[in-house]
Amino acid sequence: MIPQERIAELTDLLHYYNHQYYQNSTSEVDDFTFDKLLTELTELEIQYPEYRQPDSPTARVGGTISKEFATVYHRFPMLSLGNTYSEEDLIEFDKRVQKGLNGQAYEYICELKFDGVALSLTYENGVFVQGATRGDGVRGDDITNNIRTIRTVPLRVKGVGRGRTQNVTPGPDLQSPTPMPPALFEVRGEGFLPLAEFERINKEREDIGEPLLANPRNAASGTFKQQDSSAVAKRRLDCYVYSFLADETAPGAFQTHEESLIAMHQWGFNVSQSWQKCVDIQAVMQYIDQWEQKRFDLPLGTDGIVIKVNRYDQQRELGYTAKSPRWAIAYKYKAMAASTVLKGIRYQVGRTGAVTPVALLKPVLLAGTTVKRASLHNANEIERLGVMLHDTVFVEKGGEIIPKITGVDLTKRTDKSEPIVYPTTCPVCDTPLIRREGERGVAQANFYCPNERGCPPQRQARFEHFIQRRAMNIESLGEGKIELLIDRGLVETPADLYKLTYDDLLGIEKVFLDRNAGPEETGKKRIVSFREKTVENILTAIEKSKAQSFANVLFALGIRYVGNTTAEKLADYFGSMDAVMAASQEALLAVPDTGPRIAESVVEWFADDYNRAIVEQLRDAGLQFFGEKKVVEREGDTLEGKTFLYTGTFANFTREELENRIEANGGRVLSGISKKLNYLIVGENAGPSKVEKARKLNVPLIGEDEFMAMLVV
Ligand code: IVH
Repeated sequence: MIPQERIAELTDLLHYYNHQYYQNSTSEVDDFTFDKLLTELTELEIQYPEYRQPDSPTARVGGTISKEFATVYHRFPMLSLGNTYSEEDLIEFDKRVQKGLNGQAYEYICELKFDGVALSLTYENGVFVQGATRGDGVRGDDITNNIRTIRTVPLRVKGVGRGRTQNVTPGPDLQSPTPMPPALFEVRGEGFLPLAEFERINKEREDIGEPLLANPRNAASGTFKQQDSSAVAKRRLDCYVYSFLADETAPGAFQTHEESLIAMHQWGFNVSQSWQKCVDIQAVMQYIDQWEQKRFDLPLGTDGIVIKVNRYDQQRELGYTAKSPRWAIAYKYKAMAASTVLKGIRYQVGRTGAVTPVALLKPVLLAGTTVKRASLHNANEIERLGVMLHDTVFVEKGGEIIPKITGVDLTKRTDKSEPIVYPTTCPVCDTPLIRREGERGVAQANFYCPNERGCPPQRQARFEHFIQRRAMNIESLGEGKIELLIDRGLVETPADLYKLTYDDLLGIEKVFLDRNAGPEETGKKRIVSFREKTVENILTAIEKSKAQSFANVLFALGIRYVGNTTAEKLADYFGSMDAVMAASQEALLAVPDTGPRIAESVVEWFADDYNRAIVEQLRDAGLQFFGEKKVVEREGDTLEGKTFLYTGTFANFTREELENRIEANGGRVLSGISKKLNYLIVGENAGPSKVEKARKLNVPLIGEDEFMAMLVV
């Protein structure tokens, strides 16, 4: 088969599998086959860039770094919605609609109001061509490459174009046949970070001692604004689509919003199936009631519903005010709030030593559950709220599971209120606390207990890190069992696990009280005891863990900032524990994606005698200290001291190969265009904004051939 045909075939096939997987949750091929097809396509595209389809599924991988985003003028302004908070407000809205339509019959479509980031996606001839943020409503940022990383955003609309994707079998609620979309259309929706993904990321950040992301909405908005789309791809963002826009006279335009929702779903967009048609405002009220609790089962936060007049001609008749449509309105659920007394504060020490305050409350009923605790985040939050002990406070339940204190009822403050004095020493081990500044956009300015080795919760955390699946995979040793081993003095560091014997373990037990019990609760009891079978299982799992790869061992050490991806890169590059241990900061900086922060942390960790002793014990225990070295050998120094950046695709190299060649010859790859850049290598389909920026800064542009010529002495 000629390459052009094979590229088209693979493109269609991978689109089809992606669609089955992400929209229909079925998998027709295993991951291995899928990856093989994707690799075949990537390689063919590199060889024959002229046949690469603009909507190629390889585009999702990300990897372009642009210094800043271009501005996009929205074809239709991105407006906001008016808000209502009560049934009366809604009835008023309905009356205005009725009046505006002069007695015509009308219907509503109700949807949830998703809490994320508004996005606009433009399609030409069924192909995704541009994605933008809302910005100020008139113009936003062009974040096309970042939006491409969202798996549920179709790069090509299903049912349009070549090959097998044309045959769509309509489901029960689908219109048949699938309508063709207009040549130019836009869909709008809400980009979001699914709650489960938010938790996964925070768990990972906790593992490597990074400050946690504050909430899913900010995390999503921060992610969409990142310059490096391969970093964006790592956070599995999603997008619910809720509006369709096209020229009303365009062939293929719809009559109603409902038709557009069904068609968008058929074309492969992620349309939340929580929408419903409502014949009148009473039905709208029922929808509101129905979703008040159910909305918490959705994969993202919601704070209300959106009510839209269904027929487009009626929407046009009703028109717009300066800021928002007259044909739609948002209804906000009442923030579920209650007021109660702040009885005390408990300071918890987390896995990374961060000391966080938890408010202990007089139990109060809130949205169907009794609330006894609320999060206070950090010292700044206490200051911001101006809250004192014994104050009456307002607690609210947002998207998150733990309710938060949102304010103080000053009218109820009495002489009994006392200032909250933040502890200066660790509540568990009494070591004086230190303060570290947080990153922007994440929990700020936490206090930390620096006693990483001796502080029990931190020690416990190191063990939990060590045994996790992605590290040594000894998960049969759960939290309670580890606590028991530490308690009995059987283990001090994870290396001690490999010295445990059958006799050490048999018969030991401990009664645990529920650590999260509030002041009024009699804690629930749990007994952990080691019988024969348990002991055998644990010892077998420990023995088996010795086969975990060198990269896993490196990750298991728990070096700050060395997550499992970094551990893999270090393992590939150095090939052995001894080589990593001996590496200088400069040597570490040569590892792909390793910056000064990681390099410094690795050097510091291995410089410590205590850590080195642990490493030696692990070596003696027989853990994997070698891996396959996958490293570019030095080829020469013709590029010594020179910096490069590339854009587009190349005939002779993949991006990775190009980077390797630059580094193997002494050059460095920069992450963005600046005056410091010596050369921009321009390939096929180069990014125009990069080229323009390089020109402005007088950075020389070179082609692939010129680059290859530079490699020759
Ligand atoms: S329709 C004229 N539908 O709410 C605006 N918006 O205040 C039409 N939003 O910026 C928007 N869920 O980001 C619409 N189901 C939904 C929505 C929704 C959330 C957001 C959207 C918009 C803001 C409007």
